[in-house]
Amino acid sequence: MSYVRYEQNGFVGVITIDREKALNALNDEVLCDLEAVVDAVDADKTRCLIITGAGAKAFVAGADIGAMCTMTSDEGRAFSAKGNAVFRKIEKLPMPVIAAVNGFALGGGCELSLSCDIRIAAENALFGQPEAGLGITPGFGGTQRLVRTIGVGKAKELIYSCRNVKAEEALSIGLVNAVYPADQLMAEAMKLAERISGNAPIAVRQCKKAINMGLQMDIDSATTLEPEFFAACCGTQDQKNAMTAFCEKRKHDPFLNK
Ligand code: CAA
Repeated sequence: MSYVRYEQNGFVGVITIDREKALNALNDEVLCDLEAVVDAVDADKTRCLIITGAGAKAFVAGADIGAMCTMTSDEGRAFSAKGNAVFRKIEKLPMPVIAAVNGFALGGGCELSLSCDIRIAAENALFGQPEAGLGITPGFGGTQRLVRTIGVGKAKELIYSCRNVKAEEALSIGLVNAVYPADQLMAEAMKLAERISGNAPIAVRQCKKAINMGLQMDIDSATTLEPEFFAACCGTQDQKNAMTAFCEKRKHDPFLNK
């Protein structure tokens, strides 16, 4: 039995971390199941992914504290490397990934949401990196991605103090893009995913690559690289379809990912 479910709704794939009894906490098994599901995503037919947690209480309440409790230094290194590898795989997926944060997103849960392109949250969401209070550092990318998402000062404050932030504050510091009543979160996630899926998939994927690669480069190198992403779209059937339709003042045909 897998701790991670997958559902395909047209062009949108929904990944659900499903270990509700432990508030979807991540142990080795859950990480392996998540990796297997991510590896199996059909990139040809999936234009956007949503990641969420099972139940009404938690997105993911962190890495499994029971499993970490007796870890040696070497075991800790391996566990952190595993989580980092899986989350980096998610970050590098070709299609955009939306985290639909439906409750606690603490430690590894906050880090999982940070490996997604976009975070939207339910009103009951709670974000935080409680690791220093447990005697460890964030181990699944928190020290790297929180800084890149909300800035150095705020990330350091939250990581050093272990102060959790509610959805509204998460919105105000740019950690999430939008907050919705809990019962509307998945519908809003689907709406956004379908809107993204309605755009030319090759172009959307090149945008993701350009943004993510550019963030790691100086501006001169990044703007030198941008013509390559632009070039990868020019000449595609989808570009011809959309631009010809514009010139002929009509709606374009559905995009084909070609
Ligand atoms: N690991 C293991 N089990 C967890 C868990 C976690 N991170 N979070 C919750 N659970 C389990 C609880 O042990 C409990 O199990 P039992 O019913 O068997 O006792 C069950 O989930 C329900 O949890 P609570 O009874 O505690 O629920 P609550 O509503 O009273 O509290 C909570 C919810 C505030 C999220 C609380 O569970 C909590 O503080 N959890 C830990 C959060 C945390 O510190 N996460 C960071 C972990 S460190 C990390 O993630 C490191 C990393 O970067 C790799």
